[in-house]
Formats: sequence, C-alpha cells, structure tokens
Amino acid sequence: MKGILVTIDGPAGGGKSSVARQVAGRLGVVNLNTGAAYRAAALLALREETDLSDAPKLAALASRVSLDPDGASIDGERVPEPDLRTPEVSAAASRVSVDAGLREVLLPVQRAAAEEARERGGAVVEGRDIGTVVLPDAELKVFLSADPEERARRRARQTGREAELDRIREAIQRRDRQDSEREVSPLRPAEDAVVLDTTALSLDEVVSRVLDLAAGQRGVRKL
Ligand code: DC
Repeated sequence: MKGILVTIDGPAGGGKSSVARQVAGRLGVVNLNTGAAYRAAALLALREETDLSDAPKLAALASRVSLDPDGASIDGERVPEPDLRTPEVSAAASRVSVDAGLREVLLPVQRAAAEEARERGGAVVEGRDIGTVVLPDAELKVFLSADPEERARRRARQTGREAELDRIREAIQRRDRQDSEREVSPLRPAEDAVVLDTTALSLDEVVSRVLDLAAGQRGVRKL
C-alpha cells in the first residue's frame, strides 16, 4: 500500500527541518529535504565559478543533482551535509532558486524522490513550494511561519552564532524577500494548507499539532 505524503513549507528558520525530522520519525516515514537539491546546485555553481544568472548553465548544473532521504548528490556522489550549509551556499541557493529553468530541472528530481519514498511507506517533504507545485496532491500540507526576529534567534542559537544576530536577521529577511517575490513558485501556502504560526510554540507543540493533523488527515481546516 502506498504511504502518506506530508508537505512542510515555509520561510527559512520557521522550524521546518526540526519539525519535519521529528514528524517523519514519529510517523515512521522518511524525511526529504528538498532545499538540499537547491543547495547542491548552488554549491556546484560556486565550485565552477558560474555566473549565478546564467540560466542555461544553471539548468545544466542542476541536471547533475539528485535527491534522496539522506541528502543530495552531485553526479551520483553524496555531498557532505556541512558543505551544503555554509552561508555562501545558503545565499547562492536563494539566488539560483529564482531561475525558472533550474526549478524545472529540479521538479522531477524532487517528485521522483517523493514517489519512491511513498512506495516505501511515505515521506515528510519539506521545502518552499512542495504543497503548491511539487506535490499538489499530498495528503497533508502544512505551512510553518514565525516572525523574522524569532526565526533569527532560533537560527543563531542553532548555529552557535548568537553574537551575529543582526546579520542573521538581515540575511533571513533578504532570503524571505527573494523567496516570496520571485516570479516562479513564490513562497506561499497552498490553498488547502494548514498554516501554523510557530512564533510562540515550542518544537514539541508544533510536532504534536502536525501529528494530530496527520492522524485526522481528512477534513482538515485552517487552524
Ligand atoms: O530550505 P533551505 O534553506 O535548505 O533551502 C535553500 C534554498 O532553496 C532557499 O533559499 C529556497 C530554495 N528552495 C526552493 O526554492 N524551493 C524548495 N522546494 C526548497 C528550497
């Protein structure tokens, strides 16, 4: 029997990754982090010193990326997670993700990974446009938001860079703008997504709300 697909979208620092990981664990399904595919394409572009606005080149680079529950690969070779998490790669990933051609190449990559996971029991798939574009037929769609100040605090704590709070907040706001103002697949909740503002919620509270929603998938309403 095919498993459940849960999508978790939202802006950077909204708690998607922690929530997705824990929800996946509790449901006994895998966690697919689609941002890793964008990050891998960005890393490749930086390595090859590609002009980040060179659309044909970006599409060609993206076609070398694959995705699975353990992360992203380039030319079939696993990219170590820390290489995908540098500030340079984060900024470049946000920039290359505005490119329509690159998104088009990464779309089937993400769908294939989700479909394979679904065959094996299901997945929690996190990203920006998973509920709207990548998996519009997913059983449960969640959109996590939180105010930028709180997201910056969480990110600073997570990375041990408390002293750089101002810089982190600015980077988050810049990425929010880029992610939500882009023409292709802008960051927004799907019409049938449940929108959760996590500003005042603990991780456990968010996880348990999503699990409740997953348990009663049918007939979900906006909270
Ligand atoms: O979730 P993340 O921070 O690892 O994502 C990195 C970048 O990739 C982010 O700036 C937006 C982009 N992205 C996207 O456009 N669509 C997705 N489904 C996932 C990520």
